[in-house]
Amino acid sequence: MAEIHFDINKFDLYNPPSDLVQNSYKYYSLLRTNNPVHKNPDGSFIVTSYDALVEIYRNHNLWSSDKKKEFKPKFGNSSLYEHHTTSVVFIDQPDHTRIRKIFQHAFTPRALSHIESNVDKLVESYIAEFKDKKIIDFVSEFSFRLPVDVVCDMLGVPKEDRTLIRDWARLILGALEPTLTDEAFKKGCDAVSNFKGYLKDQVSMRKRNPKLNRDGEIISTLIEAQSSGIELSEIELLHQCIFMLNAGHETSTNMLSHGIHEFINNKDQLNSLRENQNYISSAVEEILRYQPPIQVNNRINKGSTLLGGRKIPKGSSVHMIIAAANRDPKQFSDPNKFLISRQPNKHLSFGLGIHVCAGNTLARIEGKVAFLKLINAFSDFNLISKPMLANRIRFREIEKLELELTT
Ligand code: HEM
Repeated sequence: MAEIHFDINKFDLYNPPSDLVQNSYKYYSLLRTNNPVHKNPDGSFIVTSYDALVEIYRNHNLWSSDKKKEFKPKFGNSSLYEHHTTSVVFIDQPDHTRIRKIFQHAFTPRALSHIESNVDKLVESYIAEFKDKKIIDFVSEFSFRLPVDVVCDMLGVPKEDRTLIRDWARLILGALEPTLTDEAFKKGCDAVSNFKGYLKDQVSMRKRNPKLNRDGEIISTLIEAQSSGIELSEIELLHQCIFMLNAGHETSTNMLSHGIHEFINNKDQLNSLRENQNYISSAVEEILRYQPPIQVNNRINKGSTLLGGRKIPKGSSVHMIIAAANRDPKQFSDPNKFLISRQPNKHLSFGLGIHVCAGNTLARIEGKVAFLKLINAFSDFNLISKPMLANRIRFREIEKLELELTT
């Protein structure tokens, strides 16, 4: 990798270098080499080594996911505050255990095998549309559609409402970026309110007409949990649905976009997958390691502690840079190489510990089905223009990916 010239001791996540998104892996590598537990000017810490991230994920009694203290000054009493402090990912035990247990019903092997056949059909239908085209925008025509269709089917959201859902999700998750403009804050709040109103109608419709409920569908699962006496308030129910819709698509969309982009950048690896399709599972793991769709997770410590030999005072906020840990040479040999046969590959792209991604098996299914069907339908993929990366730090998003497809 070409070098960047920057005094890394001055790195500030809240006022980042203008080329951070373009050169994120270089900056994160510099941080990890220089000081894997770097103090940000605002007093928070940026953690970049694999071992330190694992230590934090595993010790959930010390490292809290509860964001009330952190989000109060940022979001006030807004609907964004309500959402981001109620959803399963940003709460601690015992509430976390109670709510996560309810979700499990939507991810049983039976439910997943039903979803897999749906993924199969969806991918085939998109590919059938491409047969008459030579050039596509892979993001809007494939990688965005698949996860939205899958997760909306899981929740039971009608087809005509899916663009609406995508726009709300983007605005709600966008508010989690380290810096937030007044406009982004307002739009995020409106998105939560509109989303909540929309789901409230869906829930009351199903409560009035139980025949609309389907086995394994998430809204139905949550309603059923409520009616069987499991503690779950209406507000909790609505925010878990919003979170699931958000968590389940942007991330997978970016896995698919980055995956195809890396295959184009690394044609030897694409050819090797064509020749040996048994590599599909390890290829998906490598895409996730190499371009983690979520680049940063956060925790706050409930007591002072040592991390990487550095004292972290009680109540400190830590930014866990998954994008850096996944390329830590102490854990991965040749970390900057994209190698589809990499084994072992214990990347942290789905997190670890009690908050490990609840949809990880589903995301892996989406990746395996999509890439296998795509490489078997087309003999080559090439870039028409340079992909556009969104100016976001937490989520690594390709906004547009124009491809030429060869049959
Ligand atoms: C490639 C795709 C995906 C990636 C990279 C990803 C990544 C993550 C990560 C890193 C976390 C942990 C956050 C933390 O510890 O603070 C997480 C949590 C979660 N994800 Fe995913 N995710 C993906 C797809 C999905 C899908 C498809 C769903 C559901 C349909 C989903 C649902 C969830 C849920 C419910 C949680 C919260 C779990 C908890 O707090 O207990 N994710 N995800």
